[in-house]
Amino acid sequence: MKRTKIVHLLRSDRPLDEVLVKGWVRTRRDSKGFSFLELNDGSCLKNLQVVADASIEDYGNVKRLNTGAAAAVTGRLVPSQGGGQKWEVQADTVSVIGQADEDYPLQKKRHSDEFLRTIAHLRPRTNKYGAAFRIRSHLAYAIHAFFRERGFTYIHSPIITGSDCEGAGEMFHVTALDLKNIPKKDDQVDFSRDFFGREASLTVSGQLSAEMFALALGDVYTFGPTFRAENSNTSRHVAEFWMVEPEMAFCDLAGNMDLGQELIQYLTRYLLENAADDIDLFARFVDKGLKARLEGILSSNFIRLPYTEAVEILKRAKKKFEQPPAFGKDLQSEHERYITEVHFKQPVIIYDYPKGIKPFYMRVNDDGKTVAAMDVLVPGIGEVIGGSQREERLDVLTGRMDEMGLDRDDYWWYIDSRRYGSVPHSGFGMGFERVIMLMTGIRNIRDVLPFPRTPGSIEF
Ligand code: 4AD
Ligand code: MG
Repeated sequence: MKRTKIVHLLRSDRPLDEVLVKGWVRTRRDSKGFSFLELNDGSCLKNLQVVADASIEDYGNVKRLNTGAAAAVTGRLVPSQGGGQKWEVQADTVSVIGQADEDYPLQKKRHSDEFLRTIAHLRPRTNKYGAAFRIRSHLAYAIHAFFRERGFTYIHSPIITGSDCEGAGEMFHVTALDLKNIPKKDDQVDFSRDFFGREASLTVSGQLSAEMFALALGDVYTFGPTFRAENSNTSRHVAEFWMVEPEMAFCDLAGNMDLGQELIQYLTRYLLENAADDIDLFARFVDKGLKARLEGILSSNFIRLPYTEAVEILKRAKKKFEQPPAFGKDLQSEHERYITEVHFKQPVIIYDYPKGIKPFYMRVNDDGKTVAAMDVLVPGIGEVIGGSQREERLDVLTGRMDEMGLDRDDYWWYIDSRRYGSVPHSGFGMGFERVIMLMTGIRNIRDVLPFPRTPGSIEF
């Protein structure tokens, strides 16, 4: 007999004679003459109720199934006698696949997120984390669907790289050198003797690769793991995260902002249509304002606000900020949150940032002071997207690189792209985990990653 997933059984439009299900026991309740098993196989939020009559041959097995154990059940899908569910399975056979020790940590009660982080290997077995990771999977699928519908080509940018796209120096080294016996030359590490013959790191962004492909294939995107050795322990930063990076040829900053808005709206709509049960759990138990926020994302255009005006709004604000806002300084998370949560109460795209706080590749505006950058900020989280129009003019680009002390030789191929058929082009990076936080109301980025990587922590 073929195993049926619980999600499919519960959608059945008629009783079924012979079914086989396998899953983990959430609870068992014994009554006089029969037992109830709540079985979950991870295919959906709902459990399947199994009724095992004391008269069945396997009833001894039922008694061995405590919370956390894995079981296989055959039987009949019948309308449920009790309330609360449409269908239940009347068991014919019950077998124990894997018993659970008595000290299984997920007994039926609510556990704190902090505690569950210490048992990250078991937390996907809870309702909340099961739902979070199903939503993560739905979103990944929807991202590909979105770009596919728009004719974008999916590019796999390398994970090991020789360049620091963001210029922030927050990179993890990749080396095959013997760390106990590092070769030196003039008192410096001699990377010429390392695996790649020069310094290499884990990528902080696939953008530079994506740009090369946009200038060949038009509209492209990357979607993959990204690494940052920022030593900041915040609820929105991790050392390993996933980034979605579209890059569009023949596209300016306005088109870039439109794409960012469309993408976030598409993902929101997709989840409301395809993951309603899981979203509902978050709306009921995690973030009471979730539904309203998601509806808000769908129902209006994101505000478009020049950086200079954002600073004016912050200066006029009655709120006292820890960092006083000033032109030329980067917006802090407290500023971003004020703009989207207090001032506008909806997603806001801030654009045209001062060039001094942005990387070399952003297009310099006519004012000479700002660059064509844009960040999409959302209530509850702050920045989910960061992007820009790219500097396509060879002389301006190389001038900027010199100004910022970048070695042109390290980027010769990037510079080359501005010599052969350079075109205006734009793109952005969307933090995948931040989007999951937005869609679920989960407040800590550690709780949307299967096994989060943060400073000082690499358990699991
Ligand atoms: O704003 P960022 O640094 O932009 C870039 O890396 C560009 N090269 C992207 C591009 O234009 N192709 O990062 C983009 C997004 C941020 O808005 C944020 O959502 C997420 O990546 N992000 C992080 N997410 C989790 N942990 C971190 N440490 C993150 N750093 C950035
Ligand atoms: Mg950014």
